[in-house]
Amino acid sequence: MREKVRIFLPEEQINERIAEIAKQISSDYAGRSVHLICVLKGSVFFMCELAKRITVPVSMDFMSVSSYGSDTKSSGVVRIVKDLDEPLDGKDVLIIEDIIDSGRTLSYLIEILGKRNPRSLRLCTLLDKPERRVTDVAVDYTCFNIPDEFVVGYGLDYAQRYRNLPFIGIVEFLED
Ligand code: IMP
Ligand code: MG
Repeated sequence: MREKVRIFLPEEQINERIAEIAKQISSDYAGRSVHLICVLKGSVFFMCELAKRITVPVSMDFMSVSSYGSDTKSSGVVRIVKDLDEPLDGKDVLIIEDIIDSGRTLSYLIEILGKRNPRSLRLCTLLDKPERRVTDVAVDYTCFNIPDEFVVGYGLDYAQRYRNLPFIGIVEFLED
């Protein structure tokens, strides 16, 4: 199957919204510091843009979990591919996600990270597809709620492609 990508959220609009969320985070964490956890690889672009705009002290760590193959459907199976380098004890932890779909990845992550004694544990996502939720997750910061479409760009991929698009686009699958 071939596919075409149609612009859905242009870069300026994404960055404006990230600036608003960064301002809110900076005020919510005033007088503290925030430990950002980037869920690789999709969240990399988002975390960088967000971190640059947060005004309280920031530290970062990276983790990789897998729930998707190169397909567009969640398998429901989540495994840790790369764990964090640092412990979370006493830290104000903010998980940074690219997109919440079924919610399976996040509910698993919240459960395992919650056991590592963080002082607080919150969740921030660039995109949310609320219609697709299978497992309940409490999202503290959402940049955009989007419809049930497969999106790429700004870190998000389809079969490892399109991550470098500076905008978020909807993938249209074409019949050959
Ligand atoms: P969940 O466990 O179903 O919530 O899946 C979340 C993960 O699926 C995300 O972190 C993405 O890696 C991937 N995913 C879900 N929807 C999309 C999409 O529209 N485009 C690209 N990746 C997606
Ligand atoms: Mg992801």
